[in-house]
Amino acid sequence: MNPFDVLSVEIRGESHSPCISVEIGNLPLGESFAFAETEECLARRKSGKYLFSTPRREDDSPVWESGVEARGDEGVITGTVKARIDNRNIRPADYTYTRTPRPSHADYTSFVKDGADAAASGGGRFSGRMTAPLVIAGAIAKSLLRKRGVEVAAYISRLAGVSGKKSDCDIPSPDEIRACLDLPLPMITGGEEAAAKVAEIAKRGDSAGGVVECVAYGLPAGLGDNLWQGLESKISAVLYGIPAVKGVEFGAGFAIADMTGAVANDAFVIKDGAVATATNNAGGINGGISNGMPLVVRAAFRPTPSVSLPQRTVDLTTMTETEISVKGRHDATVVPRATVVTECAVALALYDEMLKRDRENKRP
Ligand SMILES: Cc1cc2nc3c(=O)[nH]c(=O)nc-3n(C[C@H](O)[C@H](O)[C@H](O)COP(=O)(O)O)c2cc1C
Repeated sequence: MNPFDVLSVEIRGESHSPCISVEIGNLPLGESFAFAETEECLARRKSGKYLFSTPRREDDSPVWESGVEARGDEGVITGTVKARIDNRNIRPADYTYTRTPRPSHADYTSFVKDGADAAASGGGRFSGRMTAPLVIAGAIAKSLLRKRGVEVAAYISRLAGVSGKKSDCDIPSPDEIRACLDLPLPMITGGEEAAAKVAEIAKRGDSAGGVVECVAYGLPAGLGDNLWQGLESKISAVLYGIPAVKGVEFGAGFAIADMTGAVANDAFVIKDGAVATATNNAGGINGGISNGMPLVVRAAFRPTPSVSLPQRTVDLTTMTETEISVKGRHDATVVPRATVVTECAVALALYDEMLKRDRENKRP
């Protein structure tokens, strides 16, 4: 299912196939995006940029196959954009878990759905590697959104139980987020404490999870609609497409359930001559429609399923219980690399919503 109304985004390939690719249809022809945005986003996703990433190193340089014409630093959209990333550092033999599935990876479910013959190496099409083409699409959306005054930025707000934000009700500014992106962990606070904690977890052969907070600044009021056409529905659908996302919340999120109405409600005020809200517990969305406040969404990432600590699993050929200790190259936590993936997923959802509104406004 494609969660978009206007765009079509197809991601192909596998973790250890010769290449991974993305095809983005229905982008506005003649508009241009900054190549620097795709480069910067891919660099933030690449292993080695942040702590605790897999030792598998990939160059991740996109090959623009069609639909883009280079004009200086910009790519002009001339049709369906097709881009490819060649997988150079593949070791499929290291990752064959079809007989003894890794607990909580997609080995067992893909075996049930597609059979052992279809099972691919290293998570196949379920691998975190599939987020590289997603980042190409999202970076284009980010660049096009910026031209419309919308800035999307994400950082780690929680890692291995350590908070990465100044306070629970604080919405960081774009500059505060930007300033932390080149640190060893993209956290506004708590980076050193979190690094020590994850290091200790990884040393035991275990892995850690966390939360990425993403903020969209400058989003106009009036985007979205009710029920499944709502902004929360679309953003959630795109975010849940990211491997390892197990929860999505907006604004105060699950904490809003413990508030009273008077506390939870975001009072309307006039700020600089425009309608605003005094608080932002709704995360910038009322009734599925943006209200003009910063959109705040968080994605919870599970700890990496592949851990070297011995775990119980089953042998699917003998139907007996056994043990697995996962080898190979894995992220001790996927959260640092997933930060830009979250940002790109949110940008895609928002840009699609803007294109949908353009289309609706053009109708007679
Ligand atoms: C950027 C990124 C990198 C990932 N790296 C790994 C990894 O090295 N090892 C692993 O077992 N899972 C990794 N994952 C998570 C798995 O792909 C994911 O947990 C698995 O496909 C099962 O899907 P689910 O957790 O959504 O149920 C990564 C995810 C992302 C987003």
